[in-house]
Amino acid sequence: MKATLVLLCLALFVAVVLACDPDSNNQPICNSTIIGKKIRNFWDPTRYWQCTDATGNGAAVLCPDQTGFLESADDCVAWSNWTWVAPCPNN
Ligand SMILES: *[C@@H]1O[C@H](CO)[C@@H](O)[C@H](O)[C@H]1NC(C)=O
Ligand SMILES: *[C@@H]1O[C@H](CO)[C@@H](O)[C@H](O)[C@H]1NC(C)=O
Repeated sequence: MKATLVLLCLALFVAVVLACDPDSNNQPICNSTIIGKKIRNFWDPTRYWQCTDATGNGAAVLCPDQTGFLESADDCVAWSNWTWVAPCPNN
């Protein structure tokens, strides 16, 4: 009984982690739908990912000096306007 419960929790945990992994850097595998889109780098707010074409992985783009990438603004913003947001809000 207890083992079943533990296994169930583990399965749920794995499912959630696969959907959005806060321990990954969120680097995308490029395809045509995400070309040019700014994608948050979970590990480094001074950089975001961007695909310039539909092949390979998104390239790291450095934000201008004194700014950090804010997903809600879809851009680099001054640190005074930047806030930490949990990478995976549903976890
Ligand atoms: C393109 O990549 C994004 C991010 O990885 C993914 O969510 C989307 O489903 C992909 N689209 C296609 C058409 O493969
Ligand atoms: C911070 O955000 C406010 C409101 O959006 C904006 O008016 C202001 O110019 C921003 N400050 C900087 C330094 O970007």
